[in-house]
Amino acid sequence: MSDTIAFKPETLEQVIKITKRYPEGKQKSALIPVLHIAQKEFGGWLDVPVMDYVAQVLQLKPIEVYEVATFYTMFNMKPVGKYVLEVCRTGPCMVRGSEKILNHIRTKLNISDGGTSADGLFTLKPAECLGACGYAPMMQLGKFYHENLTIEKVDEIIELCRQGAIALD
Ligand code: FES
Repeated sequence: MSDTIAFKPETLEQVIKITKRYPEGKQKSALIPVLHIAQKEFGGWLDVPVMDYVAQVLQLKPIEVYEVATFYTMFNMKPVGKYVLEVCRTGPCMVRGSEKILNHIRTKLNISDGGTSADGLFTLKPAECLGACGYAPMMQLGKFYHENLTIEKVDEIIELCRQGAIALD
């Protein structure tokens, strides 16, 4: 573990509180919420030393952390932009035009899937069903869903991001 990686004291307190929700020896149950916290605190992605640190805090083997972190798409394994556009591409969203939305974003921001724009602001992440099929096509940005997307709506959202005028959490 790198010496320079450590939660802020108040974050560590929050992590301990989460861990205490579970019986002794079952601290692995706290892994997903703790990884979310780690991702937020350490620059928006989970570098190997960060995952090793989480393993140490939760007294797990590093491989137990890697397995979970690499399985779920909400955890980023490489640096991402300030705004991660997670565009759903599963059936209902696809039928309602998600590919058109994805293509528009790829062209407008000159990025490929998983890539980050040259200005470092945007990362595009095609996602699987996010449970808002009735409002397709949709994307997640931070904690919020943006639904019934159109090209115009996407342009508006990107502009709001550029102005720093969109909520992420
Ligand atoms: Fe897109 Fe379910 S298919 S939210």
